[in-house]
Amino acid sequence: MDIVATLGTEKTTIHLTSVQVVQDLLPQNAVLVTDENVAAAWPAFADTRKTIVVPPGEGSKRIPTFERVLESLAEAGADRSTPVVAWGGGVVGDLAGFAAGSYMRGVPLIQVPTSLLAMVDSSVGGKVGIDLAAGKNLAGAFVAPKDVYVATEFLATLPEREFRAGMAEVIKYGFIMDAPLLDTLGGDLQPLVARCIALKVRVVDEDPYETLGRRAILNFGHTVGHAIEHATGYGPVLHGEAVAIGMVVESRLAHLLGLAREELSSEVERVLAQHGLPTRIPEGLTPEQLLAAMRRDKKAKAGRLGFSLVSEPGKCTLVRNVPEEAVLRALSNS
Ligand SMILES: NC(=O)c1ccc[n+]([C@@H]2O[C@H](COP(=O)([O-])OP(=O)(O)OC[C@H]3O[C@@H](n4cnc5c(N)ncnc54)[C@H](O)[C@@H]3O)[C@@H](O)[C@H]2O)c1
Ligand SMILES: [Zn+2]
Repeated sequence: MDIVATLGTEKTTIHLTSVQVVQDLLPQNAVLVTDENVAAAWPAFADTRKTIVVPPGEGSKRIPTFERVLESLAEAGADRSTPVVAWGGGVVGDLAGFAAGSYMRGVPLIQVPTSLLAMVDSSVGGKVGIDLAAGKNLAGAFVAPKDVYVATEFLATLPEREFRAGMAEVIKYGFIMDAPLLDTLGGDLQPLVARCIALKVRVVDEDPYETLGRRAILNFGHTVGHAIEHATGYGPVLHGEAVAIGMVVESRLAHLLGLAREELSSEVERVLAQHGLPTRIPEGLTPEQLLAAMRRDKKAKAGRLGFSLVSEPGKCTLVRNVPEEAVLRALSNS
């Protein structure tokens, strides 16, 4: 099955397929960029094309690795028609995507996501980039992949904890825009992943360059989640885990603001806990500390806090200028 999406004027085809088909369909002259874990888990795949391997982890989304990827493309003899294949999780997708967008002012990008998060989120939507010392994702661009090949077979080697973290984003789609999806979480992965991609495509198509605010609905759980990641120094709490906790807190906030029933947060909590995700703020983090981290976040425009809040499963609204007292109360309650 294929899903066709547009990013502005550019067309992306998302193919839901098998590892074998991906291997066969990738252009022979493509250069793969991946990390050590993915290359080790899928050696036969890595052997089919020229492959640039970077260390795993967020630390590779930095200028030194970005430079290495660009230099390696040059050494591999890549020219303006050589496709770059971002084969890995979100780190590889963002790094290799940015490299594809800048090498020789842009070569074709193909995304082959291997983590659940990359399949349902980062490989679709055209945002690529790297981190600066000043903050995450501060250098980047919109680079639409020509093709995204999604083979859920790759998930067989994904560590369990990473899989669960990706499920947090799947659950997020259910709560923000597709309540019936929440009843299919335990079922087959391929249709579940396809459904999440279709939802992301719908949002991205409406707001490809994030200028209308529509895309911000995807931030449910993320305002608080980013604060947790920031306050814990990016590492001990995975992004999806932080988002899970954030969704619980933000559901409580929606209730405090009179937007949602009180039961919403326990419902969110129940679904997350069923999938082995954390729902409580880690010990040692204070509400004040998290609020300070939120104020710093680039998404807090002009010092005001904005949230994507769920009013009932499947429906969400963007709320700006949320009073800090309400945020502190929602954070205190866990
Ligand atoms: N561009 C976007 O729109 C967007 C959206 C969301 C997140 N992101 C970015 O994505 C990154 C997080 O992505 P992630 O959660 O995929 O992390 P990741 O890329 O670090 O992958 C998680 C871990 O799983 C390993 N791994 C991945 N696939 C594997 C497989 N099939 N088998 C074995 N191991 C595998 C990786 O080596 C890594 O250790 C962050 O940098 C975040 O900023 C970008
Ligand atoms: Zn996320």
